[in-house]
Amino acid sequence: MAHVQAKLWNSSGGSGAQGEPAPLPDELLSWREFGKETVLVRTVTGKEGSGERHEVDTYVNEFWTSRQRAANSLHEVSYRACFKPQLPRFFIQRLTSPGDVVYDPFMGRGTTLLEAALMGRTPWGCDINPLSAVLIRPRLNPPTIRDVAERLDAIDFSAYDEYPEELLVFYHPETLAEICALKRHLLTRTAQGSFDTIDDWIRMVAVSRLTGHSSGFFSVYTLPPNQAVSLDAQRKINERRGQTPPRREAPDRILRKSRQLLSQCDGALRRRLALNAGKAMLVTGAAASTARIPSGSVSLVVTSPPFLDVVDYAQDNWLRCWFCGIDPQEVSFTVPKGLDQWREAMSTVFGELARVLKPGGYVAFEVGEVRGGRVKLEESVVPCGAGAGLEPVLILINDQEFTKTANCWGVDNNRKGTNTNRVVLFRKAPDHAYRQASNRARRNSVRSRASSLVRASTSRRASGSVPDGRTQNHQSG
Ligand SMILES: C[S@@+](CC[C@H](N)C(=O)[O-])C[C@H]1O[C@@H](n2cnc3c(N)ncnc32)[C@H](O)[C@@H]1O
Repeated sequence: MAHVQAKLWNSSGGSGAQGEPAPLPDELLSWREFGKETVLVRTVTGKEGSGERHEVDTYVNEFWTSRQRAANSLHEVSYRACFKPQLPRFFIQRLTSPGDVVYDPFMGRGTTLLEAALMGRTPWGCDINPLSAVLIRPRLNPPTIRDVAERLDAIDFSAYDEYPEELLVFYHPETLAEICALKRHLLTRTAQGSFDTIDDWIRMVAVSRLTGHSSGFFSVYTLPPNQAVSLDAQRKINERRGQTPPRREAPDRILRKSRQLLSQCDGALRRRLALNAGKAMLVTGAAASTARIPSGSVSLVVTSPPFLDVVDYAQDNWLRCWFCGIDPQEVSFTVPKGLDQWREAMSTVFGELARVLKPGGYVAFEVGEVRGGRVKLEESVVPCGAGAGLEPVLILINDQEFTKTANCWGVDNNRKGTNTNRVVLFRKAPDHAYRQASNRARRNSVRSRASSLVRASTSRRASGSVPDGRTQNHQSG
């Protein structure tokens, strides 16, 4: 992969000087990469005169391709609700320079971090689930296929102590024995302090092979690999399909998948990754509270939070967590049921992002379509970021069905069943202006908290009711 030339965009506007890239809004407006014209609409949030009203230019087009193989093979580890590498690449390329810190507070499988590292940026990330670091760390500094093959040869795949028979709904008895032996090997090496980068790689690949719908996985046919079904559901799938788990040699599949993941990893790429791997920072914890990340250190955040309660991260990852010795019930995922709860959780996260961002740094905050397109999360994101003192610069909507539906956009973008990414782009103002804006935001939020307290106490006095339990028990980030 060629080293991408930085195209820094200055949001002060105006067209770029000669030879300089066009400012992002101009570039988005004149975008024709896939033969379609951009539609410009305006997203309006907040009531008029409320002090919280925002009108944000919204650019709709196909800005990156949906082609599966358009990204580096190292990305090909599945994860529920992950975005395509093309999304972070779009923003990293335009808004950062080599060496800059690119951060994802909800990193999942680590798409943003890997793309940042591939582009010579410094990858930082956070996720509440320890499984995330398991998935991304080894791909930031991959071993050679020879190292992997030698290690697999050295592991005793017949030595296990735990053997959970209920997992035989997924696996042939001998395959389950190999999986248990590998789990034992990895946990023993961790306990002994001898766990190394090759073990780390093998664990990541094994996690990605646990279940799936082809013979490349350890299991009999299941749902896609990022959604482990319950034992009961798998029993039903087996009955319906009349299937029993076939013998699938685990070491052989780990080696095959390793070969595929490493297929585009040449010497130059390895050197670039190695240069940045030492500077990588992976935090396991809540996005709203990341004390390890220094203030004013991050140039760009590219992220995608949980979309309300659309995905059950604990349920989807239970088998992967079991293999890694993680109890998913112990992980406090943010799964807000309602929009108010979600906004509250995201506002706290934005407060933290405003702290870690450099003056002049950006946040590209992606939300998908939820509730069949009835809930437009991007409209809720705007006040959350603005409340933390960040300037909502624009909204970019990447629509892969764009040709068919382009006409809808000027009128009504509340459509069903399309596959869109909605990215709200914020900027932290350069130093002085930022302090003023965040002081203003703080004053506004104190004022609006004070007035809602007055409203709440007035209505309590009127009705004799107690405060709203949902608000009291909200889950923050
Ligand atoms: C939509 S996924 C992110 C996927 C990611 N963009 C990728 O490409 O893989 C949201 C992630 O947020 C994580 N998460 C949930 N609650 C969190 C919290 N309070 N703090 C940090 N991460 C959290 C989940 O574990 C999940 O990995």
